[in-house]
Amino acid sequence: MEMLEEQRENWGTRGGFVLAAVGSAVGLGNLWGFPYKLYSYGGGAFLVPYIVAMFCIGVPMLILEFSLGHMTQRAAPDAFARVNRRAEFVGWWGIILGFVIITYYPVILAYCFSFMYYSIQSIITGNALPWGGEGAAGVANAKSFFYDAYLGFKEGTELGQIRYNILIPLFVAWIAMYFCIFKGVKFVGKIVWLTVPLPFIMLIVLTIRGLTLPGSMKGLVYYLDPVWSELAKPTTWRFAFGQVFFSLSLAFGVMVTYASFLHRKSDINNNAVIIGVSDFATSFVGGIAIFATLGGMSYATMEAGQAVGVKDVVAGGPGLAFVAFPYALAQLPGAAWWSLIFFFTLVTLGIDSAFSITESVLAGIVDKTGWKRSIVLPAMSLVGLCFGLIYVTEGGLNWLGTVDGFINGTWGIAFLGLLECVVLGWMYRVDTLRHHANERSDWRLGRWWNFSIRIFIPVVLGTLFLWSLFDDVTSVGGFIRTPEGEWIIPNCVGFAVVGIAPVIAILMSLVKSPLRQEHGKQGEFKYPTHPVGLKLGKAAFILSTAGLLLIAWMMKTGNQWPIGVALVFGLIGIAVSNYVLEKHDVGDERPTLLSRWAGIIATLDISAVIAMTLIRMTKTAGDTEAIAETSDKLSGVSYTIIGVVALVVVGGLGWCFYRAITAASKDQQEEPLDTLQID
Ligand code: PHE
Repeated sequence: MEMLEEQRENWGTRGGFVLAAVGSAVGLGNLWGFPYKLYSYGGGAFLVPYIVAMFCIGVPMLILEFSLGHMTQRAAPDAFARVNRRAEFVGWWGIILGFVIITYYPVILAYCFSFMYYSIQSIITGNALPWGGEGAAGVANAKSFFYDAYLGFKEGTELGQIRYNILIPLFVAWIAMYFCIFKGVKFVGKIVWLTVPLPFIMLIVLTIRGLTLPGSMKGLVYYLDPVWSELAKPTTWRFAFGQVFFSLSLAFGVMVTYASFLHRKSDINNNAVIIGVSDFATSFVGGIAIFATLGGMSYATMEAGQAVGVKDVVAGGPGLAFVAFPYALAQLPGAAWWSLIFFFTLVTLGIDSAFSITESVLAGIVDKTGWKRSIVLPAMSLVGLCFGLIYVTEGGLNWLGTVDGFINGTWGIAFLGLLECVVLGWMYRVDTLRHHANERSDWRLGRWWNFSIRIFIPVVLGTLFLWSLFDDVTSVGGFIRTPEGEWIIPNCVGFAVVGIAPVIAILMSLVKSPLRQEHGKQGEFKYPTHPVGLKLGKAAFILSTAGLLLIAWMMKTGNQWPIGVALVFGLIGIAVSNYVLEKHDVGDERPTLLSRWAGIIATLDISAVIAMTLIRMTKTAGDTEAIAETSDKLSGVSYTIIGVVALVVVGGLGWCFYRAITAASKDQQEEPLDTLQID
């Protein structure tokens, strides 16, 4: 243990940590993932759940993960194990999902390397970019270059041949990641000074280019004008919430691990908000750049007499960014140079996210086994690369989209987020984490944060999960099998991937660690039960279980009338168990396990009731109309969204920096290491 303590590295400065965390959060997810999810799932309506989830769930959970990592100074699995010995699997689960991401994320990086290569080629030869062209021909060329010439893309479930033109850059991507990581976190803290600011500059250039294309407004209308009926589809919510987790690197163990390397006295709350707001701002601006370009592309095709709306100008899905951005770049004077710089920045943007996942998997394994980093890292990279072969095939992009959709579309990561909050909120004294964060932060979290982790977030995520589940189960075309009884292969594989993760996670948590025997004896996080609040806890448990049984009965019989009763049982159950935890989880007192379970079951009750109501409302509303694109002027709602976003970003960041500077100047003498470097 002591050895580990000594081995543990530190970020150089506060700026180093903030930039590293921003570097992990801001990545291809912002410029590749966010726009394609928004394009495919709901258009402007996607923004609503996205913003809600970002600030009501993402940021509070970021604080949760930071304080957990910082307090325990361990990578995710060990951090959870210290909180509750049975919870170790939660950490592993995230790491395994992270590992799945690390099999396909570098493939996207490989695309970027390839586009860099083509740009260099065009600079040297003086020829136009291979995807270049103006007007409708340019649009067609951008599409056919990526899908046909580069990917050799085949629809369907077949993998087809391996594409060596993708395999080679994939190799390059892994080697680059390897070199970034093996130098350790100090080095990571340094490179991010380059890899974080550069993309922002490029993004501004592309936004301006996009906005000055004729027709760009139409794209912005698609982006910013919500078609409200899209909110009645669970997929809009599911993918928006999943995207928030992916984008903030939440629940993958990454942020826990990064915070474990943080200096003992560093700020937590303020940093979390800075990171959340920066990540959001990048996605939002990236969205403007992409959708303005899509508007331009749609306009160009229309000029040529083919009326193709923004929704259909390119195929939705994970290829979107690699058609839209290249098109916009080709429209710039000196296109090849811009294109080189842009794809280079995408590489820098993606690479720190990619190595943050690798680092989290690595730290998880090293903290548990005590094996050498220098052996685990190459072995892991090799395995990741081998799995990556699936995606460098002709059908690879389809599978990439499927796996990404499952991992980041509620079934995977948002569900894990739910579990994380339940474990820390109900099975642990979450107030300890709040105090830990508050003690060293520029500003303090109120008690509301406890309720948000314990009640609000679990209920919202639980509702989302059940709503999606009910929707899939009752979906007309079938989800796993068609009505004709045929298996829907991609969905089966997707489910298998997310389903196998918890199994491996539990197995991993059962493996004995040579380094960990002692900390049970330490007693610090030991967990005695005490019969205080016993009766109340019991009552709450009986009530919530009754609510659950009632719900099960309703589902079986199709009877709807007791729904109100189940809700009331759930509400009382959660109120009482929450009261027991708040009142009796102090000092040496511990509430019983029963009162904790009462809260968890009550969460399930309430979520189920809301989900059932939602499914009834949305199914009876019938099919929602397709997103219409009538206008090329932004509506009042769009302007409101822009206003709110500007306020949140500028006001939020301004406030955070103000608090950081005042706090830093206050304890400058005490803690010189902790001073802020903002520029
Ligand atoms: N947040 C990163 C992005 O948006 C991706 C990532 C996911 C990084 C999970 C770490 C863990 O690109």
